[in-house]
Amino acid sequence: MKKMEFVFLLIFFPVTLSVKHSVKFFLTVSSGVKNIPDFVVVGLIDEVPVGHCDSIEKKVEATQDWAKKLMEDYPEHLQWYTQECLISPHKYKAAIDMLKNQLNQTGDVHILQRMDGCEWDSETREINGFAQYGYNGEDFLVFDLETLTWIAQKPEAVIIKHSWDKDTPDIEVWKHFLTQRCPEFLKTYMDVGKSFLLRTELPSVSLLQKTPSSPVSCFATGFYPDRADMFWRKDGEELHEDVELGEILPNHDGSFQMSVDLNLSSVTPEDWRRYECVFHLSGVKDDIITKLDKAVIKTNCVPPSEFPAGPVIGGVVGLLLLAVCITGVFIWRRRKNGFKPANCFRLIIH
Ligand SMILES: *[C@@H]1O[C@H](CO)[C@@H](O)[C@H](O)[C@H]1NC(C)=O
Ligand SMILES: *[C@@H]1O[C@H](CO)[C@@H](O)[C@H](O)[C@H]1NC(C)=O
Repeated sequence: MKKMEFVFLLIFFPVTLSVKHSVKFFLTVSSGVKNIPDFVVVGLIDEVPVGHCDSIEKKVEATQDWAKKLMEDYPEHLQWYTQECLISPHKYKAAIDMLKNQLNQTGDVHILQRMDGCEWDSETREINGFAQYGYNGEDFLVFDLETLTWIAQKPEAVIIKHSWDKDTPDIEVWKHFLTQRCPEFLKTYMDVGKSFLLRTELPSVSLLQKTPSSPVSCFATGFYPDRADMFWRKDGEELHEDVELGEILPNHDGSFQMSVDLNLSSVTPEDWRRYECVFHLSGVKDDIITKLDKAVIKTNCVPPSEFPAGPVIGGVVGLLLLAVCITGVFIWRRRKNGFKPANCFRLIIH
């Protein structure tokens, strides 16, 4: 009976699993931060960055091949994005000035972030639009599509809420975007991009260690989609102690990476062989199992060219603004409501 249930689960789990497809835009407007564009938008489809625009380049650039083709095949989309890309910097520069004024803030650095878009649930078939702002690293205002008003997330936001609630044309623009345009975009993208968006791709998995006393990091890169799980096992049992699971982060090619660290400081060398790292990709039956073995661990001491691109290297290369911004928005998303400052600004300010 147990076995039957297990087989049943294996066969039907992937089918009944609710999958969300989404279009999201992450906008960052800054004032007083040197050497970075004061306006950046990154567009993501199913959490994969597919295009961006900023106030320096002043043009929309698709970053995945299928998205480039889409922009050619659907010029009205490119036109819409281009127009937004050109007018938005002025609009949001003004918004940040207004925020500073109304909140009596002076001087240095201010950052306005926005996440908006829509999400389709493959199980309930519902589409939900969303838009929310963060200001100086904290949740600020959330748009409520039911009441068509902004909800203040902080006392200081109330004054802005009242002024935005009165801006009927802007509210209408939001309503139209979130209930019509965005769902239409999403349908088109799911259709045009399906061979890219609905694929499954297994990662390469390696074991990394900075120094002989550091935790061993099991690092998977190149998987798709971002519905994956990773853990360490000892004698076949999943470990919860001395383990640290990292975030799922995007790679530039549209795939994802993640890692799970294991602290081995209290494990004797003879016991190492009892440990293994397991990578599981949603919808794929076979897990990737990597046995803990000193011989296969790569360390930071090798020349960079031999070291797999990953969180460590990523941190350096990540100084490229966009890359880190994308990572930043992901961290923000994963923390659910935390409008924590995006990584890019933390890195650049300090
Ligand atoms: C800003 O300063 C003015 C005058 O000092 C004051 O009346 C107002 O309440 C202040 N606004 C906020 C949001 O603190
Ligand atoms: C690993 O575990 C040891 C002992 O349990 C602890 O002292 C050490 O701080 C841990 N290392 C890390 C990186 O968490």
